Amino acid sequence: MTILVLGGAGYIGSHTVYELIDKGEDVVIVDNLQTGHKAALHPKARFYKGDIRDREFLDAVFKKEKIDAVIHFAACSLVGESMEKPLKYYDNNLCGTKILLDSLTANGIDKIVFSSTAATYGEPERIPILETDRTEPTNTYGETKLSMEKMFKWVGKAHNIRYVSLRYFNACGAHSSGKIGEDHNPETHLIPLILQVPNGKREFISIFGDDYDTKDGTCVRDYIHVTDLAQAHILAVKYLQNGGQSDIFNLGNGVGFTVKEVIDCSRKVTGHPIPAKISQRRSGDPAQLIASSDKAKKILGWQPQHASLEEIISSAWLWHKTHPNGFNQQ
Ligand code: UFG
Repeated sequence: MTILVLGGAGYIGSHTVYELIDKGEDVVIVDNLQTGHKAALHPKARFYKGDIRDREFLDAVFKKEKIDAVIHFAACSLVGESMEKPLKYYDNNLCGTKILLDSLTANGIDKIVFSSTAATYGEPERIPILETDRTEPTNTYGETKLSMEKMFKWVGKAHNIRYVSLRYFNACGAHSSGKIGEDHNPETHLIPLILQVPNGKREFISIFGDDYDTKDGTCVRDYIHVTDLAQAHILAVKYLQNGGQSDIFNLGNGVGFTVKEVIDCSRKVTGHPIPAKISQRRSGDPAQLIASSDKAKKILGWQPQHASLEEIISSAWLWHKTHPNGFNQQ
C-alpha cells in the first residue's frame, strides 16, 4: 500500500511518516518546504517538492505513483498569523484543498485523512468537548479548517470520496529517537517556548493571564503526544480501507493541565528553575479546552500511549536540548 503524505516535512506530518515507515508502509511525501523542513523528511520516503495549489504538479505525482490513500497536513496553522493575514489562510488552507480535491477526483483517489483542530469549536459550550458540539471558531485558522471539513463533506458526497477529519487538541512532544521534533518559526506554542528557557534562548516564560476561572487561574489545555496523533492517522486510513464512512474525530487525552502545571512539570524534567512572569491574557484564548476522544477510541480503536505530561515534556526536551536551533543547526 502506498500512502501520500501532504505536508510530510512538517511537525505532525513528519512524525506520521516515521510511524508509517516503522509499520512497513510505502510512503510518498509532498511538501513545499515553506514551513516544513528538509531534515525532517524520512530517508525511506519518496519526496516531491511542490505545492498543493499546483494542479499540474499534483496530477503528475498521482500519475507517477500508485497512491492508495492520502493524509493531508499541508496547511498554515498559526492562530495569531491567521488573524493578521486571513487571506493567506483562505488561499493555502481552502484554495489549496479545492485544487487538491480537483486532482483527487480526476485521478480516482477516494480516501483521505486530514488535519482539523480544536479551534473549530471556538469557545466551548461544555467540557469535555464532543464532536457534535457547537462549532463557532474565534479565529480565521479555525474557520478555514471548519470550511475544509464542509468542503470534504459536500464534494465527498458528489464524487464518492470518503474522508476522516481529525480535530487535534494541543499537539506536543517529539519522536522517541530524538531525530525529529517541533520547529516552528515563529514559535508560539507553550511547551517549546518554556523549553527555550533551560536552553538559554529565553530568560523567562510569560503566563498569559492568571485570572481565568480555573483551578490556579491559568488556562487549561489537553496536551496530546504527536506520536499518538500519528497513530490515529494510521488507524483512520485503515478505517477507510475497511469501508468506514466519512467522519470527524477529536484527538486529545481527555485530561487538562494548567499553564502553571506545564511549567512546573518542565522544571521537574529539565532540573532548571524556569522563571515565569504573569502577563496579559492573549486575546481569543478560551479558559479550558479538553477533548472527549471516546468516539476515536470506540470507532478507530485509538488508545493514546504517551499520555503522561512528564513523558510528553521529556520527549520534547530530548529534541530541544539536542537541537536548540531546530533543524537548522544540522
Ligand atoms: N501560553 C502562555 N504563554 C506562552 C504561550 C502560551 O501562557 O508564551 C498559554 C496560552 O495562553 C494557552 C496555552 O499556553 O493557554 C497553550 O497555548 P498554545 O499556543 O501552545 O496552544 P493553543 O491552545 O493556543 O493552541 C492550540 C493549537 C492550535 C489550535 C488551538 C485551538 O496549537 O493549533 O489549540 O484553540 F488552533
